[in-house]
Amino acid sequence: MATEELQAKVNETLASIANAKDEKALRTVLSQSISAKGWINDFLKKIRELPKEERKDFGQAVNEAKKTLQRAYDERLGKMDKLAVSDKEYLDLTLSGAVPTFGRFHPTTQALRRICEIFVAMGFEVVDGPEIEDEYHNFDALNISSDHPARDDMDTFFIHGDIILRTHTSPVQIRTMERLEKGENILIRVISPGVTYRRDRPDRTHTPVFSQVEGLMIGRSITFSHMAGVLQSFAREFFGPDINLRLRPDFFPFVEPGAEAAVTCPICGGSGCPTCKKTGWVEIMGCGMVHPEVLDKQGIPSDKYQGFAFGMGVERITQMLFQVEDSRWFFENDYRFLRQF
Ligand code: PHE
Repeated sequence: MATEELQAKVNETLASIANAKDEKALRTVLSQSISAKGWINDFLKKIRELPKEERKDFGQAVNEAKKTLQRAYDERLGKMDKLAVSDKEYLDLTLSGAVPTFGRFHPTTQALRRICEIFVAMGFEVVDGPEIEDEYHNFDALNISSDHPARDDMDTFFIHGDIILRTHTSPVQIRTMERLEKGENILIRVISPGVTYRRDRPDRTHTPVFSQVEGLMIGRSITFSHMAGVLQSFAREFFGPDINLRLRPDFFPFVEPGAEAAVTCPICGGSGCPTCKKTGWVEIMGCGMVHPEVLDKQGIPSDKYQGFAFGMGVERITQMLFQVEDSRWFFENDYRFLRQF
């Protein structure tokens, strides 16, 4: 009878030990069971009340119970210690560290920086202009009057009134000439990288937002040959020493004569491939001698000064440099694409 009672008490206490939520609860279970004040004493007292022949066995059973409970208590406490530490500040010094991911420049930015470096090495200064422009700087001052068909080629985003998003970086030519302190011996050598906007439907080679690098060089005797030389040097520096430059007549209202510049296809080396549509050449920019009227309007006398301007599409060049099929990928910010550069 007493043995069964003891067993029931032990089972009950084991359950309490297993369920104890924290150390304090566990200690309470201990003091109520096997401590000097716990129920175990009632059973010790009972030993004397038992018939002599049963005392030994029951005494052993009580001692066993005490040991069992002490073991269960120690085990549970040990687990609690670990839990408590890992909850707060357990520091595993054997873990390998987190590998940091490094950021990098966007492929267009990389190409743009390279373009700027090359022109800076040739003595050009990098200047900036606003992306929100007025029609005067974007069109009128560049000989593109309001009824000029060239305005249709540059489908424009209007903001309000005559305020627009610039359709090319050429207005920076005008702003550079405006800023210039006019005097004897004018010499301008600037490039201007930046973003431009046109209402184009996105496809493999068009995006409504794209980048250009504008160039302008004006001085006393700057000729078409200087332009050819500068652009050829650029092309070889950028794409490689075997690249040739081809200039063909083209029309832009703010240059005369105007030209379209192409380079040996950097993908196939000129033998013909899908990128160059089997021609061996890829067009990379418009260029030409600054129109005398443009100069005169800005107070630079065209009978004394002349020079050249060019404007290249950066995404087009970057597409060739990195062999990127679709220019829309430059704007999607897909990390799987960007991490390749
Ligand atoms: N601004 C012209 C364009 O966007 C390019 C160009 C620049 C042509 C300078 C000639 C001179 O198409």
